[in-house]
Amino acid sequence: MKTKGPLLWSLNEPFRVDEIDLGDPVENEVQIRMHAAGMCHSDYHLTTGATPIGLPALGGHEGAGVITKVGKGVTGLEEGDHVILAFIPACGQCLPCLKGFRSLCDRGALLLGGKAIADGTSRIHAGSREVSPMNLLGTFAPYMTVHKDSVVRIDPDVPFEAAAIMGCAVPTGFGSATNVADVQPGETVIVVGVGGIGTSALQGAVISGAKHVIAIDPVPFKRDQALKFGATHVYPTMAEAVVPIIDLTYGIMAQKTIIAVGEIRGEMIEEAMTLTAKTGTCVVTGMGSLLDVDVKLNLFLFTMLQKTLKGNIFGGGSSHVETPRLIGLYKSGMLKVDEMVSQTYRLEDINQGYQDMLDGKNVRGVITFDQADW
Ligand SMILES: NC(=O)c1ccc[n+]([C@@H]2O[C@H](COP(=O)([O-])OP(=O)(O)OC[C@H]3O[C@@H](n4cnc5c(N)ncnc54)[C@H](O)[C@@H]3O)[C@@H](O)[C@H]2O)c1
Ligand SMILES: [Zn+2]
Ligand SMILES: [Zn+2]
Repeated sequence: MKTKGPLLWSLNEPFRVDEIDLGDPVENEVQIRMHAAGMCHSDYHLTTGATPIGLPALGGHEGAGVITKVGKGVTGLEEGDHVILAFIPACGQCLPCLKGFRSLCDRGALLLGGKAIADGTSRIHAGSREVSPMNLLGTFAPYMTVHKDSVVRIDPDVPFEAAAIMGCAVPTGFGSATNVADVQPGETVIVVGVGGIGTSALQGAVISGAKHVIAIDPVPFKRDQALKFGATHVYPTMAEAVVPIIDLTYGIMAQKTIIAVGEIRGEMIEEAMTLTAKTGTCVVTGMGSLLDVDVKLNLFLFTMLQKTLKGNIFGGGSSHVETPRLIGLYKSGMLKVDEMVSQTYRLEDINQGYQDMLDGKNVRGVITFDQADW
C-alpha cells in the first residue's frame, strides 16, 4: 500500500515526510493502523549519527494502533486488536530470553539493520530505495507492517496517546528504577534528566517507596513537572546537588542514581558516581554516540566504595510482562501517563516536535494520526 512517513535521507537534516510503499504482512507479521506515536530522544540520535542506521531511515519506535491485517501463522492477535509496539522483538528462544532477560534478546542485533525479521527482506521502500525503519518499527508512519513479536495487545479502553508512550518511555524509565536499579523502600534515588524516560524512572522510584526522590535537570519547566510527578527535591545540575544531598542523607548519598539525560557524555559518569552511596548503583539509561569510548571515573573510589555501574535497555524487563503491570498501575491512578503527554503534533510537524524536545518544552511530545493520514 502507499502511505507516508518522515524519512531521514542524510545526517544532520530534518525528517522529510515522503510517500512510502509498505508491504503486506508475510508469515508471522501484522499490519497496524497507527493512532499515536511518542517522540523519544532515541529517534533524534538517528539524525546526528550517534545511533547509526542505514539511510534512508524511517523514524519512530514508540506507538500504539489497531491491527488491520494478520499474516499466516500469527496466533493471539486479530484484526481490530488495540496494540502497542515493543522496541525489542523478543524471540523467547535465545539464551537471554530463556534466562528471562527478554529486553536483551539476541534479535537486538538486527534492530538497526532495516530488514524484516520474518524473511530478511525490506518491507518499506521509497521509490527504488529500501528504507530502514527504526528498531524494525517506524511508528511515525500512519501504517506499519511488523513482526508479531514486536506487538503487545492491550485493553481497548486505554487511550492511544498514553498507550503509545507505554511502548518505550514508560517501561524503559520505570523499569530502570524497579528492575535494573531495584529501588527498595526507604532509599534515596536520584534521576538525572527528567524527560520522558527520567519522569518514568522518577515514578518507578516513587511507587517503589523511595524516601527521597531527587530530580536533576537544567530546565526549570522539567523541574516543576518533576515535583508534580512525585520528586521530593529538584536541582539544576549534579554539581549543585552535591552539598544539599550530603545534608539530606547525612553524607550517605543516594543508594540508586539513574542517568536519563538526552545525550550522555563520559564525564557525567564521575559526577553521578559522586552522588551515589557506598555499595550504591548508578544506572545508565541515557544514550551517547556509538563511537564515544571515553568515560571519567575515579577508579580508586569506585573500587574502595564497592559501587556498581549498570547499563539498561528497555527497563530490563519483558514487554509482555511489563505492559499489563504498567497498564494496571496507570488504571489505578498510581502511574501518571496522560500527564506526561505535554503536547500532540500532526505528523507534518514532527521537526517542530523535536525542536520542542530539544528546547525542553515537553515531558513527551506525541504525534497523533487520524483520517487525514490513513
Ligand atoms: N536505554 C534504553 O533502552 C533507552 C530507551 C529510550 C531512550 N533512551 C535514551 O534515554 C535518554 C532520554 O530520552 P528522553 O526521550 O527522555 O529524552 P528527553 O530529551 O525528553 O529528556 C532528556 C532530559 O535530560 C535533560 N538534560 C540534558 N542535559 C542534562 C544534564 N547535563 N543534566 C541533567 N539533565 C540534563 C533535558 O533537559 C531533558 O529534560 C536519551 O539518550 C534516549 O536516547 C534509552
Ligand atoms: Zn525510546
Ligand atoms: Zn530472544
